[in-house]
Amino acid sequence: MPKITLAANGKSYEVPAGTKFLDFCQDNRAPHEYGCTVGSCGTCRLVLEAGSENVDPATDEELETLEMCTDVAGARLGCQLVVRGDIRVKQID
Ligand code: FES
Repeated sequence: MPKITLAANGKSYEVPAGTKFLDFCQDNRAPHEYGCTVGSCGTCRLVLEAGSENVDPATDEELETLEMCTDVAGARLGCQLVVRGDIRVKQID
């Protein structure tokens, strides 16, 4: 099973492949901030410190939101991530 590691607390969690990162955070009370949960506010932005190849690619809508809320290369929206393999995640300001 894929493993999610959170830079915020250093903990790792096993999840079924295809798990939405948002669902994982809500189910585990993970320390990751959310706002709209639908990809428009940018609150949940993050970087994948490892495993960027193990999530679904960003949609055009996600890329548009990211363009408005961060300059960090490779940033993603936590509420839009689908986990396919091991990842390490760090929320960004
Ligand atoms: S929570 Fe608003 S974009 Fe993810």
